[in-house]
Amino acid sequence: MASLFSLSPLLLSFSLLLLCPVLFTRSEPVQDRTSLLAFFNQTPHEQRINWTISVPTCNWVGVSCDANQSQVTEVHLPGVGLVGPIPSGTLGQLFSLRVLSLRSNRLSGPIPDDLLNLPLLRSLYLQDNELSGEIPSSIGNLGGLYRLDLSDNALTGSIPFSMNNLTQLRTLHLQGNQLNGTLPSISIASLQQFNVSDNQLNGSIPKSLSGFPVSAFAGNLQLCGDPLPPCNNTFFPPSPSPGPSGETPAEKSHKNKLSKGAIVAIAVGAAAFLLVILLLLLICCVLPRVRERQRGMAPKGAGPPAAAGGVGARSGDTGLTSSSKEEMTVAGAGTSEAEKNRLVFVGKGAGYTFDLEDLLRASAEVLGKGSVGTSYKAVLEEGTTVVVKRLKDVVATRREFEQHMEEIGKVEHRNLLPVRAYYYSKDEKLLVFDYVPAGSLSAMLHGSRGSGRSPLDWDSRMRVALAAGRALAHLHTGPHLVHGNVKASNVLLRSDLEAAALSDYTLYPLFGNSTPPSRSAGGYRAPEVVETRRPTFKSDVYSFGVLLLELLTGKAPNQASLGEEGIDLPRWVQSVVREEWTAEVFDVELMRYQNIEEEMVQLLQIAMACVSTVPDARPDVTEVVRMMEEIASRGATEVEEGVRESSDDPSRGGRSGGTTPPTAPTP
Ligand SMILES: *[C@@H]1O[C@H](CO)[C@@H](O)[C@H](O)[C@H]1NC(C)=O
Ligand SMILES: *[C@@H]1O[C@H](CO)[C@@H](O)[C@H](O)[C@H]1NC(C)=O
Ligand SMILES: *[C@@H]1O[C@H](CO)[C@@H](O)[C@H](O)[C@H]1NC(C)=O
Ligand SMILES: *[C@@H]1O[C@H](CO)[C@@H](O)[C@H](O)[C@H]1NC(C)=O
Ligand SMILES: *[C@@H]1O[C@H](CO)[C@@H](O)[C@H](O)[C@H]1NC(C)=O
Ligand SMILES: *[C@@H]1O[C@H](CO)[C@@H](O)[C@H](O)[C@H]1NC(C)=O
Ligand SMILES: *[C@@H]1O[C@H](CO)[C@@H](O)[C@H](O)[C@H]1NC(C)=O
Repeated sequence: MASLFSLSPLLLSFSLLLLCPVLFTRSEPVQDRTSLLAFFNQTPHEQRINWTISVPTCNWVGVSCDANQSQVTEVHLPGVGLVGPIPSGTLGQLFSLRVLSLRSNRLSGPIPDDLLNLPLLRSLYLQDNELSGEIPSSIGNLGGLYRLDLSDNALTGSIPFSMNNLTQLRTLHLQGNQLNGTLPSISIASLQQFNVSDNQLNGSIPKSLSGFPVSAFAGNLQLCGDPLPPCNNTFFPPSPSPGPSGETPAEKSHKNKLSKGAIVAIAVGAAAFLLVILLLLLICCVLPRVRERQRGMAPKGAGPPAAAGGVGARSGDTGLTSSSKEEMTVAGAGTSEAEKNRLVFVGKGAGYTFDLEDLLRASAEVLGKGSVGTSYKAVLEEGTTVVVKRLKDVVATRREFEQHMEEIGKVEHRNLLPVRAYYYSKDEKLLVFDYVPAGSLSAMLHGSRGSGRSPLDWDSRMRVALAAGRALAHLHTGPHLVHGNVKASNVLLRSDLEAAALSDYTLYPLFGNSTPPSRSAGGYRAPEVVETRRPTFKSDVYSFGVLLLELLTGKAPNQASLGEEGIDLPRWVQSVVREEWTAEVFDVELMRYQNIEEEMVQLLQIAMACVSTVPDARPDVTEVVRMMEEIASRGATEVEEGVRESSDDPSRGGRSGGTTPPTAPTP
């Protein structure tokens, strides 16, 4: 008995020794087990998985550990009836996790942020669940990810640009969600499988993804571009293919119904045709140039423009390095890759860093068709928004264009909207401007009148008019440039109305004087310009006068509702003032304000002086601005507002006529 008693401690210690390897040497991943259990307890599931503490964690169904059994490296729980959201602070705490598969369950809610911070994760399979919300942009933290499958969930929002951070990615499956917006240019060299079909994406397919098959993009709202049919609304509409050109859209859509074989045949044919054309171009245009260059007599006038301000340093005239070859192809063919991609920033460029590729990929929305061309609002992938103007009927040569852009790129004034960049090729001329979200004065004055919008009050109109006037005065007296296109739709509003900006200045030299009269700024054109086609300082003043009349009357200068057919705004105002009471001409929306009639009459007098038929009878714009400032300051003192900003202007506040103009007089 005694021996038995003495034995039992021995037995105990023996069994402890046996247990020791399990508990300590083959140590449990204690931390990870807690996290797994927390996930398990918080996520309802069918009873098919029985994770119990009596079984070592690393032997649990679907759990794998590293060789030391010290850390959980894989969790596979496909189709085990998990229901509800993935609780944060559970699986996201398995810091050694390499593979996580929770596919084919009924998990819902957002993807928890901490899952996207697992430093070693290589594969994440969450497909075939009911996950919702957006794909967090912190997905970019998973730098080592090989495979990401989020397909067949209910994810919304856009695909984050930070996907590009996943430089190891082989597989990206996002099909069958409700992702919207445009497709970011995901450019990952290792990407082998890619699918975004059956979402609500629109816009153009980035070039970096155009190598994936059609089925990877099918079933979206409005994706377009290679490999799908071409887009309509980028800045470069599909030019007619060099082969059987001149198809009507009907023919094209008919063609789309052809068999795959036929399409392939056509594509091959077209490619061959293109190749032949390219070869011909090379032979005809480039080779003679090479010879010329070798003889050391570059052609005058024809050759240099392509090289002017060129892509890189000219590699000298010796030999044919690859870059000089490229340069010559540019000179020869006119539309090579190198030239196409050259977006030239002017002035300060506002710190923009995008290139032409980015612009072409941007989602574009037509803002309006103006006298110089069509304007687009372009939202770049990084979120930058700019306005792109696609100029039409430019007659300036490349060199003229470049010189002119450099010149107007130097102009700087708070109230002038600068050109940020331009692009010039044989077929396309683009200008890039900042996007001013508040819209134009024209839209503010005439857009949806009456229907619940707050009309521009008198004080605001005065501020905007002054801002535009100061812009014009700077243009005339500083760089001595004629605007040539002053009109309300070129006055862009900012929340600070005194920072309103005049845009589209001095573009007329690009168009020569072939501009058809019907096209350029309808009711703003001075009578003499109709004949000479040449805007002057005085014709700018006329246009500005019309703009003032527009502010006063609330009537668009080219509006048909001026009574008689073909009568312009100045004539209409003159006739009304002559025959009726002066106040008849004013905008009814201004009638609600008290004590402004005198100011309005004074501004009307200034405006009428500006629209004199005889150019010499019109005042200089600096004079106009001075008179307007007087009205404004008098108004301010009378109403005892006294809160108008930018009173640093010396001509401000002086009521007597003895004040000096704010800027130097015109030459
Ligand atoms: C629980 O898991 C063990 C192995 O870990 C297995 O042998 C057993 O059958 C499972 N029980 C049920 C009810 O599935
Ligand atoms: C096993 O443990 C040793 C020491 O604790 C460690 O250096 C080693 O990296 C571990 N191996 C694995 C695969 O985790
Ligand atoms: C990209 O990955 C690096 C590390 O790989 C990380 O530091 C960075 O924050 C990530 N960027 C984004 C946008 O996720
Ligand atoms: C995408 O969808 C969300 C709602 O799911 C919506 O708020 C957002 O405006 C949409 N974005 C675009 C670009 O359509
Ligand atoms: C994409 O769709 C959104 C919402 O429907 C729209 O605002 C946007 O202009 C579209 N973009 C393109 C490029 O079609
Ligand atoms: C993309 O996913 C859809 C839907 O699952 C499928 O029909 C299509 O074949 C897939 N395409 C590719 C290229 O994976
Ligand atoms: C292109 O334009 C046609 C008709 O103008 C329209 O039906 C089609 O949806 C447009 N496609 C895209 C991708 O915008």
